[in-house]
Amino acid sequence: MLRVDELRFAHPGQSEPYNFSFIAAPGEVTAISGASGSGKSTLLDLLAGFLTPLSGRIDLDGKDLLALPPEARPVSLLLQSESLFEHLRADRNIELGLPAHTGRSEAAARIAQVLAEVGLEDVGPQVASTLSGGQKQRVALARTLLRDRPVLLLDEPFSALDDETRVTTRDLVLTLTRRHAWHTILVSHHADDVAALASRRYRLAAGRLLEA
Ligand SMILES: Nc1ncnc2c1ncn2[C@@H]1O[C@H](COP(=O)(O)OP(=O)(O)OP(=O)(O)O)[C@@H](O)[C@H]1O
Ligand SMILES: [Mg+2]
Repeated sequence: MLRVDELRFAHPGQSEPYNFSFIAAPGEVTAISGASGSGKSTLLDLLAGFLTPLSGRIDLDGKDLLALPPEARPVSLLLQSESLFEHLRADRNIELGLPAHTGRSEAAARIAQVLAEVGLEDVGPQVASTLSGGQKQRVALARTLLRDRPVLLLDEPFSALDDETRVTTRDLVLTLTRRHAWHTILVSHHADDVAALASRRYRLAAGRLLEA
């Protein structure tokens, strides 16, 4: 279980700090909605360790995540349009998620395995700039699979996709969340994405999360 307790944070010049408390269970998607500017991305940045809170706790199965720097946190982040290196092949983009000491044949096997898991067996050699938006998001998901970190943060991950691709991509997120027992935190404006995926829902307003 991921537990966030009284996590307080203020941007420069912000008089009333955010105060975030919520829980997210393994194998479930937890949705966070809220108006533009309400602090959703700020919350994800705190979880990822890109921002430092004034006080509060983030625990994963009893382990204190605030003590860890971003690179050591068991967290992956997937954004709206994923930052693939456009000039690199899909498989090279994924390889960047592997530890540097990984041997060549092991790397090739793991890359093939995660590409298959997201349904992209054949796109490994394709340069990222030639992939569709949905394929790029799935390559990005394949990279998070490789790291297999138990917390997956999604910030409007489907909003650049057409309706049909959005449905297949979000189904894939749900399948992978269940299969790998990820604690998936989904920030989304789309009520139907939330309805399709979320087991637990929160609404962010006036700096706090309310169960919705
Ligand atoms: N680095 C920063 N310095 C000062 N204020 C910031 C900074 N980053 C964000 N803010 C402010 O904090 C508030 C919350 O921003 P945040 O990006 O978390 O909102 P959001 O809920 O993700 O919005 P959206 O739905 O538009 O993505 C906004 O008022 C924003 O202007
Ligand atoms: Mg945002």
